Amino acid sequence: MKIQLKQLNTFKEGILIIPISEKAKVGYNKIKKNLGIDSKLLESIFYANSDQIIKFYSSSEKIFFIDCGTAINFNSILQVFKKLYFNHLRNNSEDICIDFSYLQHDALIVQAAINGLILGTYEIGSYKSKNQKITNLDERKIQIVSKLDKSILKEACRQAIATAKTQLRVMDLVNAPSNKLLPTQMANWAVQSGKKNGFNVTVFDKEKCQKIGLHSFLAVNRGSEFPPQFVIMEYKPKSKKKIPKIGLVGKGVTFDTGGLSIKGHQNMHYMKSDMGGAAAVMGTMELTAKLQLPLHLIAITPITDNCVDATATKPGDIIDSYAGKTIEVIDTDAEGRLIMADALAYLNKNYKPDTLIDVATLTGSTVRTLGYHAGGLFSNNQILANQLLQAGQKTGERLWQLPIWDDYLSDIHSDVADIKNFSGRPLAGAIIAAKFLEFFIDNHPSWAHLDIAGVAFGNSGLSKDKSATAFGVHLLVNFLQSLSK
Ligand code: BES
Ligand code: ZN
Ligand code: ZN
Repeated sequence: MKIQLKQLNTFKEGILIIPISEKAKVGYNKIKKNLGIDSKLLESIFYANSDQIIKFYSSSEKIFFIDCGTAINFNSILQVFKKLYFNHLRNNSEDICIDFSYLQHDALIVQAAINGLILGTYEIGSYKSKNQKITNLDERKIQIVSKLDKSILKEACRQAIATAKTQLRVMDLVNAPSNKLLPTQMANWAVQSGKKNGFNVTVFDKEKCQKIGLHSFLAVNRGSEFPPQFVIMEYKPKSKKKIPKIGLVGKGVTFDTGGLSIKGHQNMHYMKSDMGGAAAVMGTMELTAKLQLPLHLIAITPITDNCVDATATKPGDIIDSYAGKTIEVIDTDAEGRLIMADALAYLNKNYKPDTLIDVATLTGSTVRTLGYHAGGLFSNNQILANQLLQAGQKTGERLWQLPIWDDYLSDIHSDVADIKNFSGRPLAGAIIAAKFLEFFIDNHPSWAHLDIAGVAFGNSGLSKDKSATAFGVHLLVNFLQSLSK
């Protein structure tokens, strides 16, 4: 992608994008002075039009005025630029110039605009027999006009491009249907990314999983036609200084039928996105390596589908786990916590990270609690929780914390095993799922669980039906960056 940092007078032909803010009336006056466009007219157009994007085409100019509103933050800018590209710029190939001269801005705003613009190129119809012709942003020149220091702008662009490109790849993973993304294919994505971006990837096949005792993970795979994949990714920069060691775990259920506790048919097709946690974790690994962050990152994604078969685990079955604890499977649809329990225990025991974070589309309860506007956050360490909440605020991938008091643990007491995987009651489902996971982290003092069931797949603005959002990638990378500052 060619991004040039230029003076406006070098921009001869193409599309001019001018972000303004209704708060900063100075913008309107300057526009009148510099562009000769009547500021009152502009103001009234915005007033009459609820859309933030105003097309202003004259015979000689193609200008998009972007009303950034009064609450300008990373997410608001990202969203409007995503919409701008997706709705107005995808089908032509002219050069683009973004002139930030009319908006008070910092590097983060520029980063958000570029990040959003690139996300707006997303093409969801890759399985259509006739591919639509969308202009590749790579072939397009983008110019930026800003008073900010050139090196600062360059760094903002580098971050935006790296982030957006990984987010697009993560969206492809989450949008892929289960017959196009088998566990082996998803594992292969990580292997390829590792080769390209410089991190190590080891994949345990079924035999290896049996050998080392990932029983709880394998119990979910019993009904599957496809072998499970336990993917271990490790990124470790050469560093003499002591760097933080972070462990990530992501739920990789390529399709969740519910197993024998089978789901209703109405929304079952959305369960192709039940690997959104694993995809977010893989994307975080990729972006961390691309940006060469100064920390040691280990990420594990247990990958399988959850299907129905004569050999499938049945409700009431008692299974073993990597941690040596026995589990009574009350509901085979609570499969995410079974595969996460083994991955958390494995990572904790074999890598001993300073901080352990897991990401999963774990419960419908989170969706009912927070809707589509925030992921659920659960943690036994308030410093860590605060850092994650802050990263969520900054990136617009918001989290909201829920309690994990021990009182909830009694709900998953089992008479016949060490714990059961479902309370049997439609109460506090998200919290109880978190308590289940906590049972397997061996009292790790700094653990957080992100339930992204409502936010991984939904209104992305890039499709008519629900689709992938890449939630978690920017959030986690922002968190990791804050650690190394
Ligand atoms: N994958 C689902 C959770 C989910 C629901 C993700 C909606 C995305 C959108 C998970 O495996 C599941 O089925 N959870 C059950 C657990 C219950 C049986 C204890 C749920 O939340 O209903
Ligand atoms: Zn399930
Ligand atoms: Zn699931």
